[in-house]
Amino acid sequence: MTTAAEGAELTQTGPGTPMGELMRLYWMPALKSSELERDGAPVRFMLLGEKLIAFRDSAGKVGVMDHRCPHRGASLFLGRNEEGGIRCLYHGWKFDTSGQCIDMPSVPAHQDFKHKVRAKAYKAVERAGLVWVYMGSREAPPLPGFQILDAPDEEINVGMIQRDCNYLQAIEGEIDTAHFGYLHGGHADVDRLDESEPFYFTVTNRAPEFHVADAPWGTQYAGYRSAGAGRTYWRYSNFLFPFWTQAPNGEFDSHAHARAWVPIDDHHCMYVFIWWKHARAANSLPQPAYKDGTPIGGTGRGNRLLANTTDWMGRWRMADNAGNDWGMDRDAQRSNAIYSGIDGIHLQDQAITESMGPIVDHTFEHLGPSDQMITRTRRRLLRASRALSEQGTLPPGVEDGGVYHGARSGYFVSDDQRAWQDVYTHRLAAAMHPGPLPARAAE
Ligand code: FES
Ligand SMILES: [Fe+2]
Repeated sequence: MTTAAEGAELTQTGPGTPMGELMRLYWMPALKSSELERDGAPVRFMLLGEKLIAFRDSAGKVGVMDHRCPHRGASLFLGRNEEGGIRCLYHGWKFDTSGQCIDMPSVPAHQDFKHKVRAKAYKAVERAGLVWVYMGSREAPPLPGFQILDAPDEEINVGMIQRDCNYLQAIEGEIDTAHFGYLHGGHADVDRLDESEPFYFTVTNRAPEFHVADAPWGTQYAGYRSAGAGRTYWRYSNFLFPFWTQAPNGEFDSHAHARAWVPIDDHHCMYVFIWWKHARAANSLPQPAYKDGTPIGGTGRGNRLLANTTDWMGRWRMADNAGNDWGMDRDAQRSNAIYSGIDGIHLQDQAITESMGPIVDHTFEHLGPSDQMITRTRRRLLRASRALSEQGTLPPGVEDGGVYHGARSGYFVSDDQRAWQDVYTHRLAAAMHPGPLPARAAE
């Protein structure tokens, strides 16, 4: 059970809040590199409730700063991005990517004090086609050591989708595997499925059992079902500090990926997905289908996005959203062509978590045995934020970014009879890994 006070502690991420301070210890993927052009228009965006702009200067360097000009607060979003910096429209003060004021043309030369003025700027680096931002006051840590970040940028795909709810309930949608056989596969006809179809085991037994434990990077679960004759169908999944998940939506052996749920503010988050081009995962496998080749309803690939706008919440939004009941098709729901009536696995998850409201009322819930991963993850986050605020103890992955390297998710069938965490360790050791070719064990 989570109290109202704990719910607030978990979901508030603005400056000065316990979880906000914890999140500010980490690099956050914030924009696609492709959103910023050299000397192009600045981009307006928010992170952890702060209104920011990003721009790429004449030399290609990225600047991220408070959108307010430190002179009198005019928005630098309106500014001119030219000749090595962003110039405020109001009185012409100009700032480089580090935030340093480098020109103060409206002040007489003998009264110029530009060397004393800095815009509130944050560190930014680019990796894997993303701009990562660090908002903390400590020295910046290394980027998280995910296996996927061992791959060169050209082997990595990235995508972004805004979700209109708090980051925590988006994460909890990810680590809740029990919904799969209903929300996504409640209509799947078991008799027409081949065992090799990834849907098969999740819909033949819709009430999996779980193992759940703390892990060096956060928490981990394994959902398991019998696959007959001494074999088990395993689905491993992870929560990783402070807002990352690894879902079981791909074959474990190649599923090097990471998914972030970065708080935009407390009512919106940005889903950032980073996946390996060599992975056999949901976004690269064919659409799930029956033995005769007929696609399973509601599992269409691809997400329809609106064109980005310059609004604070205008980037990477889905075309189907609360405004049209997420494209709900009641006929499809009634005929059981699609259990949910909503077409697309990501959209189904989006609809459910957004339908709870911007922040779910934790005192309203009745958590059950299939929610163990959720309760454990909440406790892990609360313990870490209290240890940080009360003792100054750093949470996992800040100084020890290597902890992420041991994390992988995905599904497989195995006759390995060892304990679940040993099954995991052995499977991971034999799996494909991004990086230089000789390191890819199974290729
Ligand atoms: S408010 Fe920006 S230069 Fe005056
Ligand atoms: Fe889902």
